[in-house]
Amino acid sequence: MRAVVTGGAGFLGSHLCERLLEDGWQVLCVDNLVTGVAQNVAHLQGRKGFESIQHNVSEPLYLNDAVDGVLHFASPASPVDYADHPIATLKVGTLGTHNMLGLARAKRGFHHGLPPRP
Ligand SMILES: NC(=O)c1ccc[n+]([C@@H]2O[C@H](COP(=O)([O-])OP(=O)(O)OC[C@H]3O[C@@H](n4cnc5c(N)ncnc54)[C@H](O)[C@@H]3O)[C@@H](O)[C@H]2O)c1
Repeated sequence: MRAVVTGGAGFLGSHLCERLLEDGWQVLCVDNLVTGVAQNVAHLQGRKGFESIQHNVSEPLYLNDAVDGVLHFASPASPVDYADHPIATLKVGTLGTHNMLGLARAKRGFHHGLPPRP
């Protein structure tokens, strides 16, 4: 099973990546590091099943392999961060959520050989 964790280099996301790996999942951590830090997942680099990419999920994300779960935790997450990144906060809560729902929808049925949904 393979999960995509957005905001994976953040506080909640990094712990989630760790827990999923412990439970035997493969994990793709997706983060643009706008408020998170790569250091949060540095201890997971090189661990079997873990990958990370720097990407803004307010832009579409196209992946070739199977995805069994999308956990969307990407967002600036404090009043200070909202004030520093107001438009990016709105975008990730709307476009980012839309894009991640699209990814989940496109990957539904991947393991069963069903065609991707538009
Ligand atoms: N921490 C809490 O107690 C708590 C409580 C309730 C809800 N939440 C919500 O959970 C989510 C995560 O919170 P957190 O405390 O882990 O915050 P965080 O700031 O530690 O992590 C958020 C991560 O999202 C990344 N990010 C932001 N915009 C992005 C984008 N467009 N594309 C890719 N990555 C992006 C940031 O770089 C950061 O690493 C937020 O939506 C927050 O509002 C958190």
